[in-house]
Amino acid sequence: DRQKHIRNFSIIAHIDHGKSTLADRILEMTDTIAKRDMQAQVLDDMELERERGITIKLNAVELHYQAQDGETYIFHLIDTPGHVDFSYEVSRSLAACEGALLVVDAAQGVEAQTLANVYLAIDDDLEIVPVINKIDLPSAQPDVVKAEIEEMIGLDASEAVLASAKSGIGIEEILEKLVTDVPAPTGDLKAPLKALIFDSIYDSYRGVVLNVRVFDGMVKVGDKIRLMNNGKEFEVTEVGVMSPKAVKRDFLMVGDVGYITASIKTIQDTRVGDTVTLADNPAAKALDGYRHIQPMVYSGMYPVDNAKFNDLREALEKLQLNDAALEFEPESSQALGFGFRCGFLGLLHMDVVQERLEREFNLDLIMTAPSVDYHVDLTDGTEVVIDNPSEMPETSNISEVKEPYVKASIMVPNDYVGAVMELAQRKRGEFVTMDYLDTYRVNVIYNMPLSEIIFDFFDDLKSNTKGYASFDYEVTGYRPSDLVKMDILLNGESVDALSFIVHRDFAFERGKAIVSKLKETIPRQQFEVPIQAAIGNKVIARSTVKAFRKNVLAKCYGGDITRKRKLLEKQKAGKKRMKSVGSVEVPQEAFMSILKMN
Ligand code: GTP
Repeated sequence: DRQKHIRNFSIIAHIDHGKSTLADRILEMTDTIAKRDMQAQVLDDMELERERGITIKLNAVELHYQAQDGETYIFHLIDTPGHVDFSYEVSRSLAACEGALLVVDAAQGVEAQTLANVYLAIDDDLEIVPVINKIDLPSAQPDVVKAEIEEMIGLDASEAVLASAKSGIGIEEILEKLVTDVPAPTGDLKAPLKALIFDSIYDSYRGVVLNVRVFDGMVKVGDKIRLMNNGKEFEVTEVGVMSPKAVKRDFLMVGDVGYITASIKTIQDTRVGDTVTLADNPAAKALDGYRHIQPMVYSGMYPVDNAKFNDLREALEKLQLNDAALEFEPESSQALGFGFRCGFLGLLHMDVVQERLEREFNLDLIMTAPSVDYHVDLTDGTEVVIDNPSEMPETSNISEVKEPYVKASIMVPNDYVGAVMELAQRKRGEFVTMDYLDTYRVNVIYNMPLSEIIFDFFDDLKSNTKGYASFDYEVTGYRPSDLVKMDILLNGESVDALSFIVHRDFAFERGKAIVSKLKETIPRQQFEVPIQAAIGNKVIARSTVKAFRKNVLAKCYGGDITRKRKLLEKQKAGKKRMKSVGSVEVPQEAFMSILKMN
């Protein structure tokens, strides 16, 4: 009977369409959280998320709602991230639900990224409840947005809820729709336990905390659980739900979404997507796992302080626990020492990992410019995969280099189609097709090399369309390209961590740009530092960082001591993110200058 009263759902929305605000209203409305305790946007609990205003980590909250039919329902709201890089996490959280609210901004309409997530939900057979948010805005056009939802997604939007999360309009209607439209979980309480791990975090006191959705059976404290992927067994020490703080329970049963702790100390033991069962009465077959998501962007991460290598390894292991898409393996660089080659879903994912490492684990890092992976056919008939430009074989040994291509769909108002096409062309894009979505908006499709997208495509797109374009891409395969490796020499020595791969047609222009960018970012040293860009042993661009003229302290001679100290401190702070490469001090920005060349 309890099972009939459970509703599991997530919210699918484009960034800024109001997901967090709506979640807050739902928490208030169900008294999960008293108004006076309401901190704006409870679901985004990580500091980083709050600052960037994006939802990264998954969260699940239990709510109780007394419906108009007089019954009380148990809702589990599972949060999903909204950015293009994170669709893997979206697919994890959707697998734990029977329904989803599709929130669309009444003034902005459907965006490319929302489509990708809605399709994931439709593939998972979720019941989708359309919600048109921000109807309080003067620019709201709910009828246009309804028509868009019907045309672009093929959902019936005639019954869409018109809501304003900000002013609290339509919230009750949404809750009623969840009761009437979203099915209760199926599954058998008497069957052996099957629970899906859709997220997990490491807690230094309790060990690994598994966030699970129970599909069959039940689990309680003292049970011996087995992780079906590796067969490891643990005794359950606590189960509970988040509401929104952790609340202990005696058990979790079929349909429930909650957490399990079992003194799991080694984070490698738990895999998101794995099935938890009971050791004494195991399920015969695991739940469908998640597909393995291939990282698309790679970068080297090095501790500024070489002694922190092991700390960095531990931190990466902990992050990987609830970020299955993060990959890393040790690598070394002549210039930077020992570090890790890390694989990410995209640039935002890379930024988020870097920031979390620095804030949550207190590490100072140097990161090398991101790169895609290249498939290189050698003249001896073998193929190698290169995700670090410095490992590109000698040109004379290469017969062909292939790079990843994506199908990019860019949704943009009519007026900006020209600007988008011009930009895509400039990034080696190949026009595929163009569809009018309505009288106002166009979906432009291009085939493009992924490497051009990771080099500031987002920023260029935004500035060329005054922020009106929305963008999504999927990788379609590898294609041969005329690519060359560019070496960067500082003080006559090639710096492996600065080398990059570039299309031959752009080599001259980028070589010049990077050399002048490096000249700006590398501070003056005690001696002159020549900077050169070279392909093979042909130098194509050069520049020089002049030597210091005077000692910073010189002008303080006899001067007051506090001023002297301030200067020294300033110098020290400036040094923090520097790495000595040979005899040259190179700051972090220099390694990223390749991204900011336009
Ligand atoms: P991410 O966390 O980045 O995915 O964004 P989000 O979808 O959670 O959006 P959020 O709830 O943070 O809302 C984005 C902005 O829209 C905020 O400034 C909100 O105050 C505003 N907003 C949300 N709902 C409404 C609404 O109904 N009407 C109006 N006028 N503004 C709203």
